[in-house]
Amino acid sequence: MNPLHNSAHSLNIIILAAGRGTRMHSAIPKVLHQLAGISLLNRVLNSARALKPARLIVVYGHGADQIRAHITEPDIDIEWVLQDEQKGTGHAVQLAMRVLNQTSQQNVRLAAASTLILYGDVPLISVSTLQRLCAAQTGQLLALLTAHTAQPQGYGRIVRLANHLANHQVQRIIEEKDASEQERAITEINTGILIAPTHLLAHWITQLTPQNAQGEYYLTDIVTMAATDSGVTTCHPDNLEETLGINSRAQLAHLERVFQLTQANHLMNQGVTLRDPARIDIRGNLQCAQDVVIDVNCIFEGQVEIGAQTDIGANCVIKNAKIGRGVKILPFTHIDGAIVGSDALIGPYARLRPGSVLAENTHVGNFVELKNTCLGAGSKANHLAYLGDAEIGARVNVGAGTITCNYDGVNKHKTIIEDDAFIGSDSQLVAPVRVGKGATLAAGTTLTQNAPPDTLTLSRVEQISRVDWRRPQKK
Ligand code: UD1
Ligand code: CA
Repeated sequence: MNPLHNSAHSLNIIILAAGRGTRMHSAIPKVLHQLAGISLLNRVLNSARALKPARLIVVYGHGADQIRAHITEPDIDIEWVLQDEQKGTGHAVQLAMRVLNQTSQQNVRLAAASTLILYGDVPLISVSTLQRLCAAQTGQLLALLTAHTAQPQGYGRIVRLANHLANHQVQRIIEEKDASEQERAITEINTGILIAPTHLLAHWITQLTPQNAQGEYYLTDIVTMAATDSGVTTCHPDNLEETLGINSRAQLAHLERVFQLTQANHLMNQGVTLRDPARIDIRGNLQCAQDVVIDVNCIFEGQVEIGAQTDIGANCVIKNAKIGRGVKILPFTHIDGAIVGSDALIGPYARLRPGSVLAENTHVGNFVELKNTCLGAGSKANHLAYLGDAEIGARVNVGAGTITCNYDGVNKHKTIIEDDAFIGSDSQLVAPVRVGKGATLAAGTTLTQNAPPDTLTLSRVEQISRVDWRRPQKK
């Protein structure tokens, strides 16, 4: 049985997120910077929530107001602990433990048996790694997530007993700034993530002293106490990147690429062709059927669904959209909040705004913008048009330069174009207005009244040519 299932409600989680993030050189608190469209803190919160903790505590400090304002999703499950002055990771956990061991009238939840420590700036930590770590924490043991790396610089190092009879037990963690040359050569690092029995953690955390190079309360010092009191066990992450923290914009950019490549590989494994897996950005959830082809530099945001054999050209931005099968989207197309039927041909340089619904076999060409508009099966708007708040039937041809004048400065009005109509180039349809079935509008028509079905409608001054006219001459 899954040990987490067994003890679904016996876990507290503390997320440390009070640090300034000086090296980001930013007015935005570090944990609010985004990775693949989601803030670092929200990413950690998502992983934490997947473990169904009984209590979820976030220790915050720098950018307090911005952080509280940002976490707008229901945050009733979060207990916020303000750390005014950052005196170290140990100090942060001390404050959190104080809250954890209190139950107030508003909060009747009791502290659970074990407590897991996560970090607001370690965004890719996976639920599966955390589940393994939690499962390793049995009895009174402290379970520590450690990793082996050729570049241990900057991390706390794991000091183990040399004695193999004692299983190379973990003895303590030494911070880089306090380490001897010999200790710095150790390549097993502390990821910082750990889980311990709550009552022991509460006890150890009060024993910390700031006698070290940084004058801080080090959370890592509890490992020495655990080693003598109850024992320490370790486990490793599924992959090293999961445990990487973000301190600079370069590290943020690096982890973004790591994350995007993971998503790209996942798509390719499902039968999607990516012209270059290093040049795709998915900031949300992209679902592709088989044999979708995606050219370089496309960005997908929110929920996007793409049908089989659909081709997405280079440099498209597609957000919250459902695209049918056999669709061809040519380069530089923007789609947001739209539905595109099968076998449609869109772009290049087309823009589908929210509420656009295209039926099958439609064509929307270059510099055509649709907003809150339905385009019926087989209809075409191939060049330079604005179609807003319109209901357009089947087999309609919308000529180049057509504009629905949907806005009178105060209200929006609707344009209806019935099946088989033909809208001549450079027409303006002043809404509310209707074009009947099979109607033809001559080029340049400014339509202010309904156009009857199966009839030619035109609004033009009569064309004249003046034979007596001469070009003015320069004096
Ligand atoms: C810490 C560990 C180190 C480990 C490394 C992993 C300690 C003493 N050292 O070092 O062993 O290898 O993480 O990345 O724990 N924070 C607070 N309040 C504070 C101080 C820090 O909330 O007073 C938060 C920070 O926002 C950050 C996290 O704790 O999210 C880690 O703090 P940081 O100062 O980056 O610790 P490191 O020196 O990197
Ligand atoms: Ca750090």
